[in-house]
Amino acid sequence: SLKKKIHINKRTIPLFLFDSIDSTMNEIKKKKYNNFNEVAVIASQQTQGRGRRNNNWISDKGNYYLSIRLKQKIQKNFHFITYVISIVLYDIIKKHILKSTEVFIKWPNDIYLNDKKVCGILIEFLSYGNKVNDIIIGVGVNINNNPKKLNNSSTYLKKYSNLTIETLEFTKSILKGTDYWIKILIKNKDIILKEWMKRSKKINSKIKFYYKDQLVNGIYKGIADDGSIEVLMENKKNNFFNLDLV
Ligand code: BTN
Repeated sequence: SLKKKIHINKRTIPLFLFDSIDSTMNEIKKKKYNNFNEVAVIASQQTQGRGRRNNNWISDKGNYYLSIRLKQKIQKNFHFITYVISIVLYDIIKKHILKSTEVFIKWPNDIYLNDKKVCGILIEFLSYGNKVNDIIIGVGVNINNNPKKLNNSSTYLKKYSNLTIETLEFTKSILKGTDYWIKILIKNKDIILKEWMKRSKKINSKIKFYYKDQLVNGIYKGIADDGSIEVLMENKKNNFFNLDLV
């Protein structure tokens, strides 16, 4: 692998670049990185890319695959990191695309361009004993192509952009943005919820999801104080921490 250094806010984060590996999520947990306080791993392709809910993440060449390990220093509401990272990726993606393209975050943390998924985020917590010590953030962005078999539901950045995406610059923006928004989360989680909702689907839009094994309709009502998604179903408000949106 190739080693680079990323400088942000007086910190240096080592970045390891691989050609092909199983998954950056596996790689970053290896002992050999333990002596780094924080570290980032990128691969040009993954043979066993992982998504949320045990999905696999098809990871062909031409796209972006990143994992970051950060020290857990958020005292309360650290699960809101999922909202933090989606705000970060939303803003970066927004900067790279043509103005006419519609961007939104689909709960909890997928980024969509014109109704097709362009970016997925996977968050894992590493704990020793009963304390969460590290946060591992996985980010996959379709840049130059999307998986053929997901052609109807996914897209890629280059389709909506004239800008060249430079891996190191892109990574630096993610690390910087993460730093910035984590500080805000530590100060006031309500700002995160508000900022996330500004970027999500419009309140009152229709959503579909699986509920008790059935595909049902609901109306999206934003996220509540505790981070759960609020959904109106047959005029009754429901809150979910886990919801399989379609
Ligand atoms: C999802 O939407 O299901 C999350 C996808 C996360 C994919 C990224 S690619 C880099 C990192 N390594 C993995 O194996 N998964 C994450």
